[in-house]
Parts: sequence; structure tokens; C-alpha cells
Amino acid sequence: MTSYTLALLPGDGIGRDVMLEAEKIISVVENNTPLSFQINKIPCGGKHYLETGEEWPEGSFEFCRDEADAILLGAIGWPGAKTESGDLAGGSVILGLRSGLDLYANVRPIRLYDGVNHKIHGNFQQVWKPGMVDMVIIRENTEGLYHSLLRRCADAAQGRETWEPGEMDFPGLDGEVAWDPRPISRHGSERVIRYAFEIARRRNGAPVDGKTRVTCVDKSNVTRGCQLFNKIYHEIAEEYPDTETDHAYIDAFSMWLVRQPEWFDVVVTPNMFGDISTDLASVLQGGMGIAASANLGDSHGMFEPVHGSAPKYAGKNTTNPIAMISSVSLMFDWLGTKNNDPTCTAISDSIEQAVNQVLSGDKLTYDLGGSAGTSEVGDLVCQILEENLRKHIPIA
Ligand code: IPM
Ligand code: MN
Repeated sequence: MTSYTLALLPGDGIGRDVMLEAEKIISVVENNTPLSFQINKIPCGGKHYLETGEEWPEGSFEFCRDEADAILLGAIGWPGAKTESGDLAGGSVILGLRSGLDLYANVRPIRLYDGVNHKIHGNFQQVWKPGMVDMVIIRENTEGLYHSLLRRCADAAQGRETWEPGEMDFPGLDGEVAWDPRPISRHGSERVIRYAFEIARRRNGAPVDGKTRVTCVDKSNVTRGCQLFNKIYHEIAEEYPDTETDHAYIDAFSMWLVRQPEWFDVVVTPNMFGDISTDLASVLQGGMGIAASANLGDSHGMFEPVHGSAPKYAGKNTTNPIAMISSVSLMFDWLGTKNNDPTCTAISDSIEQAVNQVLSGDKLTYDLGGSAGTSEVGDLVCQILEENLRKHIPIA
């Protein structure tokens, strides 16, 4: 019997609500497959910091690094919650793990499911049919504009002395200046770009023409970091002659993303551009209630919905749990590949199928035009998942 150790980090706000649904999914899996789970649910985040003075209990980073087979995160961020240094309280959790575990590829699939309308207003409903939006944005996750904060959070998470960038002087600027360096390295770019080309191999190409295409999105007409990123993109592309190369500056990409989403298959981009464009891209798939993500390194994986903690909606049982449930599916898919465990892969497919089925029905949360609660949608996914698993996966 295979057992997996999971670190569950509910975090703040609706992160806690959707984590409850993830837990239900995991117990359905446990009860209907040969797998078992060791679950460690760790209180954490900005609210937890305000209440206890710590972002998470001591040893949590080490648990995630040394014990957990996979990490599931809800959301981080609570109004007014800042650490002594003025940084995001809970940053040790989300950014400390991204940096400290070298989770360099932030994988954010954007797919419009059957039965879901995108959220662009106007009469585009007929133009964009399900199937016309099916891309994955790969966001570099360990450097770029996030580098300083990532580094400080990884230091805090591991009890190390905090790194600060050295002095800089900016000619022509007077008075108080705040700044963030934006380093982009060859190593950091190579690994994430190669990851994007590898993922492209396992997909079906762009909806518009079925071609396998990796689009490099940057601002190489302006920044040196992007010039390096772009140069490395072209170097790596030579290793994949069957994949079509493609490039867009981030400003133009923002336009093309909305005008012609069917063009895109795999997109690879530096950290902050990926952060911004994936919120934008979520409207193409029905909103943040659907958007799931994986933070992947060579040895660790952390899975989380793209949405934030939405304090206003916390505890109200209104949030769409699908983004979290699809993140659980991404987790099983990754566990399957990493451990060569076909049961995990089959579980991932079964969750995905259940999500598909729920989204084409009418028990939906408010963001998709329904009036069902978080837990009702979660229960329905669980019910369908249970049927799927019984059909497809023999209990050992
Ligand atoms: C995300 C979030 C985080 C980020 C925040 C909470 C630090 O917006 O995962 O996209 O900026 O990366
Ligand atoms: Mn974001």
C-alpha cells in the first residue's frame, strides 16, 4: 500500500474554506483507492501571524522540505498583516517555499470547460467555444522582480539572517526612492524555458491550428533581464525543432490574450509578467474560481488556486472550490509522474472528469451564475469522483 505524506497549508480567508473541500476530495481518494495519506495540516498565514506572532509553527518549512511528498496551499494575505520588516505576513509560507524549495516553474493552465462562459462582456459567447481556450502559462517563480522578497521570505522560513540588496544610486531622482532589483539569471531562465518546451510536448498544440507552440513573453525591447531571457529562449528552442517558436512583448501579449486566446499553447514568461497575465487570463476560463496552479521544482511540488484569500468572502460558504479541487488534480498528476505511480495519474484524470461533469451541470457557485455553496459543489464533485474511482480503480 502506497502512502503519501501531504502538507496542507490552508492560510488565510477563503483559502481555509477551499482547503476543507480539498480534504474531502483526499478522503474520497483514500476510501476508494489503494492509496493512503499522512496529512499534516499546518496553521499559517497573515491572520495566524496577527494572532500568534508567527507565520507558521517552527519546523514547518523543514516538514515541507523533508517529509512532505506534496504541499497544498490555500491562499495567503490578510488585511494589515505585515511582518516587523514590513513584508507580507505569511510570505514565508508562499514565497519562502517557492524560493526555499526552488519551485522554479509556476504552471497555470487556462482552459474553458464545457458549460462555462468566459467573463468578457459583450457578444463573444458564440465566438469562443470551449476548446478555443486551452493554454498553459509557465511563470518563472524564483527570481525577477520578486527576487528580493522571495529571498527574504526564504531566509525567514529557514531562520537565516536576512539578505538585503546593496546600496544603489539613481541619477536624476531626488528624495526618497524605493526600489526592487529585477535579476534574471541564465540558470533560472534555462530551467523554466526548458520546462515549458517539455510541457508543450505532452499537449495537443494550440486550439487554432493544433500546432505545438511555445510563446516567449517578455519586454526585451526595454529591459536587460528580458534580453537575456529572450536569448536563452532562442537557444533552448533549437533543441526542439518540432515546436513552433513565437514571441510577444508583454504589452502586446495582454492584447492578444484577449483578442485571440486560441493562438496560445504554452507561454513562458518572467515572474511578475506571469503573475499579472494569469489573473487576466483567468477571465477567459470563467474567472478566478476556476484557475488552478502548480509550483514545481526538480524535487518538490506545491499546488494552489491562483486566487487570493478574498477576506470579504471568508467563511461565507460562497467561494467556488473548483480552482482548489483542480489544483488537487494537478497534485495527483505530478505525484503520478514523479513516483511513476499510475494510480495517482488515474486519480488526477478522475478528478478532472468529475470537475468537467459538475461544470456542465447547474449546481454552481455564484461566480458561474448559480447559487450553490462551496460545500455543496465540493460534495457533488466528491460524489461523482467516488463513482468514477469505483469504476476505474480497483481497491487493492
Ligand atoms: C499569486 C499571488 C502571490 C504572488 C502573492 C499572494 C504573493 O498573487 O500566487 O499569484 O504575487 O505571486
Ligand atoms: Mn497573483
